[in-house]
Amino acid sequence: MAVTLQQLTQWKQSGRSIISLTAWEYSLARILDRAGVDIILVGDSLAMVGLGHSSTLPVTLDEMIHHTKAVCRGVQHALVVCDLPFMSYQVSVSQAIAAAGRVLKETGASAVKLEGGHPKIVNIVQELTIIGIPVMGHVGLTPQSVRILGYKQQGQTKESAQIIIDQAIALAQAGAFGIILEHIPSDLAATITDKIAIPTIGIGAGNKCDGQVLVTADLLGMSSRQPPFAKSYVNLKQVITDAVQDFTQEVQHQKFPQS
Ligand code: KIV
Repeated sequence: MAVTLQQLTQWKQSGRSIISLTAWEYSLARILDRAGVDIILVGDSLAMVGLGHSSTLPVTLDEMIHHTKAVCRGVQHALVVCDLPFMSYQVSVSQAIAAAGRVLKETGASAVKLEGGHPKIVNIVQELTIIGIPVMGHVGLTPQSVRILGYKQQGQTKESAQIIIDQAIALAQAGAFGIILEHIPSDLAATITDKIAIPTIGIGAGNKCDGQVLVTADLLGMSSRQPPFAKSYVNLKQVITDAVQDFTQEVQHQKFPQS
């Protein structure tokens, strides 16, 4: 049974934590899906972990669509959400509708995610949901604004915390089905989680959110650099290096292939 938007809200109500991870290609998505992940996000972190850029800004809508198609081919159960990349939705409502429409028509993803909680973005979220495109919000540290925010924790002052609370409430009222809370204090994330009826998915936002998301390259220990709040559950970089060295040894000593 595929995960539905209604299920996510029910899980918030029942206190069942929502598990989300990012994916950028077929094989990884297939493994995450079979392992029981609820939401697979084709995040624009693809730009960094999949394409080698130094920020998320360069990835294009065409690249997001290409990778989301591959992810969707591997997924049977999870809800697939595709990030709208930088400058594919900020210009106007019609640009956002065209971009989100392409994602839903061409990829098989069920929803899009976009960053920010300014009234202009809230309006875009509302217009997308009105025409039947499910939208996930993203507030706190929004990496598409790295040139202004850097990568530092957001919501540290009373005033900036209140802005993030107001943004989350506005996004929920505009019809977002869930909100990513990135790199904000734990008590702020807990306050937002209590105040809105839609699920909050935290990353660097403490353990009081309705769910958690990690960039899978960080979880697997594959990233060249990772944020302070990420956790690696395995050192796949080392596992791959060891396997490649074993292969090299066996080939050099004519042990592989065996004849
Ligand atoms: O792009 C991404 O991977 C994300 C996560 C950090 C939530 O937006």
